Amino acid sequence: MAKTRESLAGQKASAGKTALIVMAILAVITLWACSDPAANKSSSGNAAATNSGPVSALNTGKMAIETVRVNPGLAEFGAEVFKKRACGTCHAVGQRKQGPDLSGVASRRTEKWLHKQITDPEWMLKNDPIARELMAEYALQMSNQQVPEQEVKALIHYFVQESSGK
Ligand code: HEC
Repeated sequence: MAKTRESLAGQKASAGKTALIVMAILAVITLWACSDPAANKSSSGNAAATNSGPVSALNTGKMAIETVRVNPGLAEFGAEVFKKRACGTCHAVGQRKQGPDLSGVASRRTEKWLHKQITDPEWMLKNDPIARELMAEYALQMSNQQVPEQEVKALIHYFVQESSGK
């Protein structure tokens, strides 16, 4: 009887020990998985770089807000496209989500740059320094939705309208 109790206690103790070891291993794995060195490096020191970012050939000259004269109907269609294509999963105007806050985006990007980012985000990540910096900051790649030309145009009109502060 005494012996059984003893061995039971022993079993309990060793079960507790095993659980502790398992928990410790899990904790180590979790810590390791969360410490993405690229994400950590870029999130520090990038705060002030929003407008004074790297030089991009596509983003030189006048910004979209200066070159696109808003067609209100097209801008409205753009807002619908934005919803329909679920751009809002990652973006909002006036709020940072998984992707960049799009408020004022037409004041910091050219029409060409916006066009390319929407139609070929993969190319942008390979070749455009601004897109690369954003990618490093958000640790996420924008998806290519094969947005047709008319919708791209509408989205840009929508961004310009939003960026005009109306
Ligand atoms: C899966 C999340 C995701 C979705 C969906 C998404 N984006 Fe993005 N977007 C990003 C990320 C992340 C970036 C930063 C660049 C990169 O990493 O590719 C970005 C960058 C941008 C930029 C440039 C922002 C800046 O500050 O210059 C624009 C404009 C943009 N997206 C528009 C759109 C539009 C329009 C759609 C819908 C057709 C869309 N995005 C859908 C994640 C997303």
